[in-house]
Amino acid sequence: MSAAVLIDAHRLASRISELARDIRSALPDDDIHFVCVLKGAFLFLADLVREMDGRVTLDFIAVTSYSGAATSSGEVRLVKDVDTGLEGRHVVIIEDIVDTGLTLHYLQDILRRRGPRSLRTACLLSKPSRRKVDVVVDFIGFTIEDQFVVGYGLDYAEQYRNLPYIGVMGP
Ligand code: IMP
Ligand code: MG
Repeated sequence: MSAAVLIDAHRLASRISELARDIRSALPDDDIHFVCVLKGAFLFLADLVREMDGRVTLDFIAVTSYSGAATSSGEVRLVKDVDTGLEGRHVVIIEDIVDTGLTLHYLQDILRRRGPRSLRTACLLSKPSRRKVDVVVDFIGFTIEDQFVVGYGLDYAEQYRNLPYIGVMGP
């Protein structure tokens, strides 16, 4: 099982350290609270958090928007909520990819209602040509074409998350 390399491990690492610097620059002296969207963003979070200076806490949330297929159902459901409140905190959502934007739109909406002091979003990947709803993504790792990608946390039917690079599925 393999997929053609689109973004290799070296490019991922260097871009993620730039993102960590950008996030810290936006909130230079503040405690930052990462909310990682499971499962796809778990490796992005793990690498990003190790590049962050200063005070950082983290939590996890899980939603479903796909039913194991390569197309979006357009329906988003909360599967696991965060463990601690967000009121008064500087929150950064950590997401693997923004595709139609439906998942992120839903997440930003429910998290904003918890009264964070600020709410930002960092996505490793963005496919702007697929957008169905306008969402603000403050930090984007890589903008990619409309192609289904796997690896580095992202799956196809729960497989390929273990690839150390972002790959494109063969035919
Ligand atoms: P959206 O709601 O359409 O923006 O989709 C967001 C979610 O769909 C992401 O969090 C991913 O889990 C999944 N997704 C979208 N595109 C891809 C892809 O190319 N590969 C793997 N998962 C994807
Ligand atoms: Mg996801």
